[in-house]
Amino acid sequence: MNLARATAFAPASVGNVAIGFDILGFAVDALGDRITVSRSATPGVRISGCSGLPVELPTEPERNTAGRALLALNVAVKPDFGFEMHIEKGIPLGSGLGGSAASAVGAVVAANALLPRPLPKIELLKFAMQGEAVASGSLHVDNIAPSLFGGLVLTVGIDQPRVKQIPVPAGVMAVIAHPHMFLSTKQARAILKREVAMSDFVWQTANLAGFISGCYTNDLDLIREGLNDVVIEPQRRQLIPGFSAVRSAAIAAGALGCSISGAGPTMFAWVPQAQAETVRQAMVAEFARNGVETDHWVVPVQSAGARVVED
Ligand code: HSE
Repeated sequence: MNLARATAFAPASVGNVAIGFDILGFAVDALGDRITVSRSATPGVRISGCSGLPVELPTEPERNTAGRALLALNVAVKPDFGFEMHIEKGIPLGSGLGGSAASAVGAVVAANALLPRPLPKIELLKFAMQGEAVASGSLHVDNIAPSLFGGLVLTVGIDQPRVKQIPVPAGVMAVIAHPHMFLSTKQARAILKREVAMSDFVWQTANLAGFISGCYTNDLDLIREGLNDVVIEPQRRQLIPGFSAVRSAAIAAGALGCSISGAGPTMFAWVPQAQAETVRQAMVAEFARNGVETDHWVVPVQSAGARVVED
């Protein structure tokens, strides 16, 4: 018996993870979007409404991240029914926590559950990427892939993306501090220089390789050494009030590394569990000293990714 309706939860995510610009991200299960998709007798895709956080989303499917993702799935699968979708936003837009990616991922995961022959997640990734492009103006996967698959995820390639879930040493937690302000991803991308100095390229490549190797070998020193963005962070940190003080406080309190979540303004730190609360308090206090209120979480880096849930 095919389902007539399904609701999917798609988690927030931290894109880039400092050194993997546009290719690395991890899921944050503490918050997410819930997308409900119902079968409809009318072919095509419609958005019936939005609820949750007060955000103004376009309801024309072509202009909506979840709508565009579902349109891409609809064109590829050509089901003999239509889709009607309700979006419940749990991730603030412009937060750097992958809100648009989560909506796109939730839409295709919910719709997939209605198909007579559901597709594997790797097929859904391409549809969700089309949705993400509506919001950010570019085809990047660093939020889509972790929201869909869960955990720390590396994606290689765009046309035929290959996804690798990277193991994270036991006991490593993430601290997330979300300042109450909006930062447009498009704007935060527009300020980036088109060229990278050769010395920075070498340094950043070493840091990414060291970070990934450290994850596979449980080497926290290598992770600490690698979790250091010398290319993007220096260009974006002035967009976040108190960035340098928050980062320094996190490191002084025991964080392995601390940087911008995606395009910001949210900041994240990786930290051994025993120091996680201290790091959280240090980051929140520094933001407050700079006049910025935050929402904050301590979360494991491992998680299940997007999934169908009870209505
Ligand atoms: N990786 C992209 C950026 C999106 O930093 O612009 C982040 O969520």
